Amino acid sequence: MSNFPKQPLLLTPGPITTSPATKEAMLRDWGSRDRDFIALTRHIREQLLELAGGGKAHVCMPVQGSGTFAMEAALGTLLPREGKLLVLVNGAYGARIAEIAHHMGRGSTTASFDEAVPLDPGAVAEALDADPAITHVAAVHCETGAGLLNPIEEIANVVAEKGRYFLLDAISTFGALPLDVARVPCDAVIASANKCLEGVPGVGFAILKQESLAKAEGNATSLSLDLFDQWRALEKTGQWRFTPPTHVLAALDQALKEHADEGGVAGRGARYQKNAHLLVEGMRTLGFKAFLPDSIQAPVIVAFHSPPDPKFSFPAFYDFLRDKGYAIYPGKVTAADTFRIGCIGQVFEKDIRGVLAATREAVAALGIARLS
Ligand SMILES: Cc1ncc(COP(=O)(O)O)c(C=O)c1O
Repeated sequence: MSNFPKQPLLLTPGPITTSPATKEAMLRDWGSRDRDFIALTRHIREQLLELAGGGKAHVCMPVQGSGTFAMEAALGTLLPREGKLLVLVNGAYGARIAEIAHHMGRGSTTASFDEAVPLDPGAVAEALDADPAITHVAAVHCETGAGLLNPIEEIANVVAEKGRYFLLDAISTFGALPLDVARVPCDAVIASANKCLEGVPGVGFAILKQESLAKAEGNATSLSLDLFDQWRALEKTGQWRFTPPTHVLAALDQALKEHADEGGVAGRGARYQKNAHLLVEGMRTLGFKAFLPDSIQAPVIVAFHSPPDPKFSFPAFYDFLRDKGYAIYPGKVTAADTFRIGCIGQVFEKDIRGVLAATREAVAALGIARLS
């Protein structure tokens, strides 16, 4: 860290800025087969399961890597080789799930929606009625490219009513937006450590319905991403099959303590909501236009239209804010030129006020006259 004295605050969708204690938790080496690490793994799995409202009917399976690895593992494990997946797509991360299924060579189809419009449960019901071969459905909770919140409870209920399995990408919401698997029918909820849980990158996990996982033996075509095999090993020995990201888990354990101290999902979500509200209002006051209406904006990351003034360039805007101590994020939607500012991580009201002040200065310094 001393080599990088000017660490910017990360206003991104993750990796995010973590607390000093979470970083410090990585200053110990762990034996991956040692009893302390076995206890740490068990404790983390229990806490994550509890955060999802899971009891005995569900199980938490960690997996090395980022959120995409956990999604690929869950999909490859639960989707039988003769199964067919319907992916609901209204953004880049839905499209990525379809890409994963394609790479795995599993049968799949997509139902596509506009990237500024939430998924439509009625259309999902129609798609399922029209194709009885579909066995599984996958959707994204917050489409992070636009920052859009999908009506996931309604979607999960439609999928359950139609007798299909449901996999949810909650990678950018887990820990900040409520999701209770005891009430909302999900066969898999996929997330990672380095977003709303405020851990460091390197581990993902899936909260899986045990009944569905128990039927998944032999489905996976990947050895390392087979959650059924990993489940068997963890239940038997408490150990990971392959080298676990030990320091990352130690950091996650500390981050989970801080999450509980903040008031759990409700407390974390309330802070992010406050950040998002202050950010959108402040940017509007400066003349910027949010890509989404407030009603479907998730309190995770906000996409703003880039000013139509030719004097605006994202790299110059980024560098200006970066020099002031804030790292923002490029846009990801396809229909408009946008940039994004994140609300998650160790980001508080003073930080949002800070980035708003820096943005005001950037507008003046770059000579941008037309903001929207
Ligand atoms: C909703 C969603 N899904 C999947 C991913 C991919 O996660 P990762 O980059 O950790 O693989 C992201 C990353 O931002 C995300 O926001």
